This record gives sequence, structure tokens and C-alpha cells, in this order.
Amino acid sequence: MVFAPQLRVPGPTPLPDRVIRAASQPLINHRGPEFSEMFGTVNRLLSEMLFTSGHILLIPGSGTYGLEAAVANLMSPGDTGLFCTNGYFGERWVSIAQAYGVNVIHLDIPWGEVVTADDISTALAHHPEITTVFVTHNETSTGITNPLEDIARVVTEHDRILAVDSVSGAGALPVHVDELGIDVLVTASQKGWMAPPGLAMLAVSERALAASKKSKSPKWTFDFERFISSGAKGMTPTTPPLSVYYALAEGLAMMAEEGIEHVWGRHNKVATMIRTGVLSMGLKLFAPEGFRSNAVTAVRSPAPDADALSLLLTDLREKYGLILAGGQGEQIGKIFRIGHLGYIDEQDVYGILGALECALFDHGYLSRIGFAVPAAQTTSQAWVFGQELVTADR
Ligand SMILES: Cc1ncc(COP(=O)(O)O)c(C=O)c1O
Repeated sequence: MVFAPQLRVPGPTPLPDRVIRAASQPLINHRGPEFSEMFGTVNRLLSEMLFTSGHILLIPGSGTYGLEAAVANLMSPGDTGLFCTNGYFGERWVSIAQAYGVNVIHLDIPWGEVVTADDISTALAHHPEITTVFVTHNETSTGITNPLEDIARVVTEHDRILAVDSVSGAGALPVHVDELGIDVLVTASQKGWMAPPGLAMLAVSERALAASKKSKSPKWTFDFERFISSGAKGMTPTTPPLSVYYALAEGLAMMAEEGIEHVWGRHNKVATMIRTGVLSMGLKLFAPEGFRSNAVTAVRSPAPDADALSLLLTDLREKYGLILAGGQGEQIGKIFRIGHLGYIDEQDVYGILGALECALFDHGYLSRIGFAVPAAQTTSQAWVFGQELVTADR
């Protein structure tokens, strides 16, 4: 029996003790001054870490609620949107848009490949009717980080509205919302923010707000304007998930103490160690080099079929106390995924790699063990903090 397994799926993540303690505080009046103060702090820290002076909206629910809010506010039935997808979550955005009667132009890139700025530029040039571009920053289902800077540049050049699903990216990976001209960015509390699930967090530009005022899609709880007018009074339109707010405020405070650039650098270091360790075992990564996510690593399964992979992941959990995620959609049974976002540092990597290597050995997928941890350690020792900012996403 394992009593304290390591949760290493790509969100929810383990939480620091400070955050857990914060979440268990007594509740307060959500219409009183203590809430307003906490709300103000959360808004300010999110603005700082997303590099935006636009509106911050906190929508109760998970990341998907934020994706739906973006569609409901930016689009009217019959409007045309370009949906750039290369995985499970991009496709989810397409389904949401279809449910709202949006005319979807689908830039359908195969899973495991990258959405490029050139593809988007071509689509925009051919379809002047497109008002809005929807793109996934960090595609959690495949471990690919799409080139957001290049994508944002072409969308700006073509003067279209840009909505970005950075549910599992922001916080862990660099995103400069205003500089990139992102109109709606969606992230979620349980991903890179060291907080539990319960809040979709959106950065919304003035242009997106103007689009929302014109949009004819039915909406009430998701209406951007309602959040903004309550927010101006230090409140939320409906009862906020207070315990998640407490936790998020504490997670953000810890990130602010560390410094957001250092947080991004830590993710880069940890991800590089994981990738080095996994490759040293002879396993193959699913994402192409140069676009491998610093928040989640997708590994091609060495198992002959889905059942064998499932047995491997079960043993990993039960014998070695490590919980990893399987594949999603068309990649079920073909890949597994290691989440390394939020509350994670170098020491955790050794446990992850050691456990993975042992389970792979038990199942006959490795003939020898003992490579991964030293390989990761070498990477760590060679790491110069700060160098990663040169190679990171900006
Ligand atoms: C990139 C991405 N988009 C959207 C979602 C959906 O978020 P949620 O499960 O919080 O609704 C996820 C969740 O993993 C995600 O990783």
C-alpha cells in the first residue's frame, strides 16, 4: 500500500503545505471587505504574471468554462472563427464553437505536429470572413507548445481577434499578453498556479470586451461585462469558490516571492531534466524537438498495446507511488504523459524518473536500470539559471 503517491498528471498538481493551509481557512463574507482585498490582490498578481493591463476575469468552474466563455463573448451565431488544432483540447474548442452555431474553419493539424504561423497566415489570407482566431498555446494532450509569439504576430498583422487556450501554459510558461496582442487568454487554477481546480482565469482586452458587447450569443453567467462591472466593486457576479480563492492567493504569493521569471526557468530546468532522463532510457518523446512543453512531457509507450500500458501505469501507481496520465483521444494506449507544472522542483524529478525506470524494468521494457537519474542530474549540474530565458518561449 502506498500512502502518499506523487501526483504527476498535467493538472491537478500537488499543492504546497502553505496553499493547503490557506484553503482550509474559515469562510468569510464574499460581499465584505476581506474578500474585496483578497480579490484585488489576486487580480493584481495575475495581471503582473500575465503581463497585462487589461481585464482579469475569474470564472467559477474549470478551464473549459473559460473556453466556452471566450466563444460566447467573442462570437455570434454565423460568425466565422479559425480554429487551429493539433490535439484533444483544440478539438474541444471546436465542439464548443459548433454548439454556439459558429461557422468553424478548422485548421486541423495532425496530433504530434505543430501549428505554424504560416498555416494561419495562409488561412487568414484565404478567408477574409474570419473575425477571430482560436489557438491552443500548450496542447496538454500531446506535450506540444505551439509557437505563440509567431502565431500572435501573424494574427496581429492580419488584424484579427486572438483567443488563446493557455489553460496548462500560463504560469508555467512565459506569456506576455499585451505585448503579443492576445485578446482573450484562458488559464485555470489547477495547472501552473499551485492551486486546486475551481477557477478559470481570463485576461480580456478592450477589443474583446467590445466584441462581447456586440455578440448575440446567449449568455448570462459567462457575460464578460457582468464580471467586469462586479469586479470594479471588488466583487464577483455570483458566489465565488472562496476556498479556491484562498488557495490561489497563496499560490500566487509564493510565485511572486520566487519571481515569475524564475518560475518559468524552474519549469524549463525540470522539463529538460525529465526529457533527458526519459531519452536516456531509450524511450521516445511524442512532441517534436523545439516544441516540447516545459509543463508536460508526452512519451511514446514502449508497451505493445493499450492493456499493457494500462498495467504499467497501474503498477507505477500501486508499487511505486507515482501517478502519471495516459493518452487522450486518438492517443489513448499509445502515449503516457508526465505532468511537471506548478509545485515541482529538481528533487521531485529524481523520484519520478527512478520510479518510472523501476516499473519499466519490472515490465521488461528495459534490460538495465540506473541511467535516468544520473542523466538528469548531469543536466541539472550543467544548468545555468538564466540561460533558459534565452531559449524559452520569447
Ligand atoms: C490545454 C487545455 N485546455 C483546456 C483544458 C480543459 O480544462 P478543464 O479540464 O479544467 O476544464 C485542459 C485541461 O487539461 C487543457 O490542458
